[in-house]
Amino acid sequence: MVAVETLRVNNLMKSFGGLEAVKGISFSVQEGSIFGLIGPNGAGKTTTFNIIAGAERPTSGNVLLNGKDVTGLSSEKLYKLGLVRTFQLSHEYPQMTSLENLMVAASDQPGEKIFMNWLAPKTVASREKEVLERALDSLNFLGLSHVKDELAGNLSGGQKKLLELGRTMMTDAKLVLLDEPGAGVNPTLMLKIIEMIRRLNQERGYTFCIIEHDMDLIADLCEKIVVLAEGSILTEGSMTEVRANEKVIDAYFGGDLE
Ligand SMILES: Nc1ncnc2c1ncn2[C@@H]1O[C@H](COP(=O)(O)OP(=O)(O)OP(=O)(O)O)[C@@H](O)[C@H]1O
Ligand SMILES: [Mg+2]
Repeated sequence: MVAVETLRVNNLMKSFGGLEAVKGISFSVQEGSIFGLIGPNGAGKTTTFNIIAGAERPTSGNVLLNGKDVTGLSSEKLYKLGLVRTFQLSHEYPQMTSLENLMVAASDQPGEKIFMNWLAPKTVASREKEVLERALDSLNFLGLSHVKDELAGNLSGGQKKLLELGRTMMTDAKLVLLDEPGAGVNPTLMLKIIEMIRRLNQERGYTFCIIEHDMDLIADLCEKIVVLAEGSILTEGSMTEVRANEKVIDAYFGGDLE
């Protein structure tokens, strides 16, 4: 099978005033793969994701999604093109139930547009039913059915992380960017999150880009890893390759201890 490039970034740069957070980085992600972006704190990982996901404009460089230049498009437009992201800190609506949180994440919900209720009530009703079924299926897939009516604000940290994954399942997105899906998660839930990401990749065909500090998660899931430090790519390759690289060891342990 010919490898298809879902994502490519070319020579991305981003300055915040005098600070160069990203200094010309390029990499590509193959369709159907799980890609890891790692590096010490402040390396520029989230900034890179923000640029890819349309939350920041790069100072220069470009982003290609399925071969199409999408640099500077809004996150809403990118979402419609099949790209969705999660955040380093979970973004649930605490006063809504788990089920409602997933339902509001569905794209293009015609019920949101009031005139559609009036013009095409049947379309709205059948779409809402579809969204409900999809939300229930996602909760079931993630093992969260028992908390479907619980307010999201009352969920544990790990359950919030799973719910965040569930939000990505409410879209037809094929490329999912995860910013630290394992942050603050206990070891048991970490295994669950790893399993969910793997199953979403294998059974449902999602391509993932993952930022993560937990090297077990990265080693378990990612075929290809890019290591960033101080805004530049230090190296890339398999976990075995990057782990053996002295520059990587230096970047993590050579400077001030975190
Ligand atoms: N909006 C902003 N304005 C000014 N500086 C910023 C902004 N966003 C990020 N930075 C700076 O850019 C650099 C890279 O930050 P970034 O958040 O991309 O790092 P990171 O690799 O995600 O780190 P972490 O592992 O701690 O999440 C840091 O020095 C950060 O302080
Ligand atoms: Mg970050």
